[in-house]
Amino acid sequence: MEAIRVVGGPPVRGTVRVEGAKNSALKLMAATLMAPGVSRLTNVPNISDVHVMGKVLTRLGASIEVEDEHTLVIDTSGVESWVTPYELVAQMRASTAVLGPLIARFGKARVAMPGGCNIGARKIDMHLRGLSALGVTFSQDHGDIVARVDGELTGAFVPLDFASVGATENLLMASVLAEGETTIENAAREPEICDLATMLSEMGAEIEGAGTPTIKVKGVSALHPVEHEVVGDRIEAGTFLAAGALTGGPVTVTGFDPEHLGLVLRKYESMGMQVERGERSCTISREGPLRALDIQTLPFPGFPTDMQAQTMVLLSVARGSCVVTENIFESRFMLAAELSRMGADIIIEGHHAIVRGVDGLSGAPVTAPDLRGGAALVLAGLVADGYTTVSDIHHIDRGYEDFVPKLQGLGAEVSRVDL
Ligand code: EPZ
Repeated sequence: MEAIRVVGGPPVRGTVRVEGAKNSALKLMAATLMAPGVSRLTNVPNISDVHVMGKVLTRLGASIEVEDEHTLVIDTSGVESWVTPYELVAQMRASTAVLGPLIARFGKARVAMPGGCNIGARKIDMHLRGLSALGVTFSQDHGDIVARVDGELTGAFVPLDFASVGATENLLMASVLAEGETTIENAAREPEICDLATMLSEMGAEIEGAGTPTIKVKGVSALHPVEHEVVGDRIEAGTFLAAGALTGGPVTVTGFDPEHLGLVLRKYESMGMQVERGERSCTISREGPLRALDIQTLPFPGFPTDMQAQTMVLLSVARGSCVVTENIFESRFMLAAELSRMGADIIIEGHHAIVRGVDGLSGAPVTAPDLRGGAALVLAGLVADGYTTVSDIHHIDRGYEDFVPKLQGLGAEVSRVDL
């Protein structure tokens, strides 16, 4: 079984470039289903979640060619199926992003209900309620969601109970080919939503308000294939910036827009970091001690839940105590138990984690609980006394391309080993 072995201590400094955003690329791939023909996506990360989404599309009848590792040429003219089986959805729940596109293209879809995962129930009730408002009827059949539209998808006013990223995306994709106007109220505002809206507009969609809580869509009769570059991955960037913050840096991350990490970087400055923002880069360093600071995760532009684990590592060795509140997922604190094995002092009370900074961490064998928690444990190993082995690193490979070589490039003593 593969693991990542980190030796604590060497300074981590230098420059690293991030890939395109996992949480955009997967949806952009799904959106190509809505325009029969050949689309080209560039700056696509070479990660296992993208490979799974590729399998979903080819299972539907698309053909995919990989050019130079980060460019996908996707031909969806041959797509005739509207069925996405459990074995693929079980591998990656983001496969449900094909729901909106399939309904828009075929007026029907059969997609396996996604199970939960380590960070929560991951329900899709808001997706289904929103799509029902556009005229979709749903039934369940042996673990699958069966969607059907009698007549045309019809635009509607769709208020979301919560600014769900996935629900906003599925609704956005279904509404661009619906009859008439759709308003998505309380829409998610993440940069990945804007990236999807930009690509859909390039395909011929008429969308206003992406990035604000109210998105208005005027349905069109057809979309055309497109070439589109995936937005830089703000969470991969934040992960390497957290490494620089932890070890003192300076670490420069390129290939993303620092505005997409606005609140994270402002919080890091309050914790004692120096942050220099460029057009498509950011440099982080630290002279003095890390200062504890309360963090609450919220939908964008709030503090991103996908940066909670990496920030908890910083707080675990900061001066003072703080409270980390996880408002997005119901069980995204599994990292705390693993960090405690390395000497961290964290108490979990419901969706709050009380973190008391300790002088230092000690290396230990630990297990990646999920994608971001796994990456956070590797970061902890960078400053722990001795060495740390992180197992279950398939979680990390889902969302980080070349995580180990990139850290080695910053001077870290880290390697993949067979346990
Ligand atoms: C996306 O998940 C991301 N995944 C997540 O990134 C990210 O943490 C999350 O957005 C929030 O930013 C992808 O884009 C592939 P949500 P998503 O719908 O769409 C509940 C990572 O590490 N909810 O905003 O699933 C849900 O259970 C991953 O890269 C419902 O109850 O997020 C969760 O508690 C992890 N009903 C909360 O809302 C619904 O119908 C946020 O979910 C939909 C969601």
